[in-house]
Amino acid sequence: MTSWAQPEQAHAAEWHDETTVLHGDAALATDSSVSPPIHYTATFKAGSAEEFADMANTARHPGFYTRYGNPVHKRVEAILAELEGTETALLMASGMGAVSTTILGLVERGDHVIAQQRHYMSTSKLFEEVLPRFGVQTTIVDQADLGALEAAIRPETRLIMVETPVNPTLTLTDLQAVARLARPRGILTVADNTFASPLNQRPHALGIDVVVHSATKYFGGHHDLTAGAVCCSQELAERIWAMHVTLGAVLSPMDAWLLLRGLRTLPLRMERINANALALARWLESRDEIEQVFYPGLESHPQHALALHQMKGYGAVIAFSIKGGFDATSRFVSSLRLATHAVSLGGVETLAVHTAAMWAGTMTETQMTAAGIEPNFIRMSVGVEHIDDLKRDLKQALSGLA
Ligand SMILES: Cc1ncc(COP(=O)(O)O)c(C=O)c1O
Repeated sequence: MTSWAQPEQAHAAEWHDETTVLHGDAALATDSSVSPPIHYTATFKAGSAEEFADMANTARHPGFYTRYGNPVHKRVEAILAELEGTETALLMASGMGAVSTTILGLVERGDHVIAQQRHYMSTSKLFEEVLPRFGVQTTIVDQADLGALEAAIRPETRLIMVETPVNPTLTLTDLQAVARLARPRGILTVADNTFASPLNQRPHALGIDVVVHSATKYFGGHHDLTAGAVCCSQELAERIWAMHVTLGAVLSPMDAWLLLRGLRTLPLRMERINANALALARWLESRDEIEQVFYPGLESHPQHALALHQMKGYGAVIAFSIKGGFDATSRFVSSLRLATHAVSLGGVETLAVHTAAMWAGTMTETQMTAAGIEPNFIRMSVGVEHIDDLKRDLKQALSGLA
């Protein structure tokens, strides 16, 4: 099978991110419309038997059958690959679609893989529960303990999964150090870059092979779609795509188009989000009602030096604990007026969740303690509202605790 090659981008390598998100897909235009058409079709016709054979036998063809690829997907993928600095990218229907398809595409029975003690919950499930069912052994290590990571490596280790920053304490993984341990041993590395975004952190430039995203978050940016992305080399993308065609976590052309529209403003949104979140984290730290604030951009974060080294900005998510127990935290979240009480992150609106309440149905108390989820934890995804309005909202909710 031959592989579909993305056309050369005229100046993409020299462009700044603000330009890439607007023009990085120009070489893939299929007509003269300024706003790209939505190729809302499951299948594409061939002009001849020869063309059909070519379409059917080209990996990742953009116009054969939408499970295999779609012109709108290709435009989004071109931009994401530029932003992450990888050869190519692959879109999926959700972040978990991207994570699970990537891992299942890269490991086999008998392999050993290493993952972090803390990951997005469903990623942890994939490593701790799903992979062992298919004969893949997993070792879980503390992400901040590089000695433990090195000690976990075995001759049959094929892959290391990392995620940074990670829920709930925004702990970081040293991406360069992980790559240095893995590369010489021929171990593949996969990083979930959802919490940072490529505007704030470029794992591939630090030596990581595959970068995965929940594109539901910053890329979409408006809390209106679910999507996932995998950014990597052409060769790895083809392996992952072969699994993708089998598992079928396919993004609809409409949602790919919405994602493309969201991406056009990603750098603008990230600039405001980074500034708002840092300002809010500092403000929270100054308040008597607050026990602790976790944000990599704060000097008080235990890995702030690493944050300065591998991140350019620190993203939307702030975790903090208030003085008081589960009930006080519940009351606090309920009395927020501007910040919306909802899961997810990285969109234009500020969202807040009481983490312990969110996981109460799926995790035992012991599991929550192991995962670092305290009863008085709040996770906030800071949006693009005016910072003074956000502070006023938090202030009124905190004053209700007295
Ligand atoms: C870090 C991280 N990875 C993956 C996912 C899964 O993404 P999705 O909800 O788009 O499947 C999430 C969702 O919150 C996440 O936070």
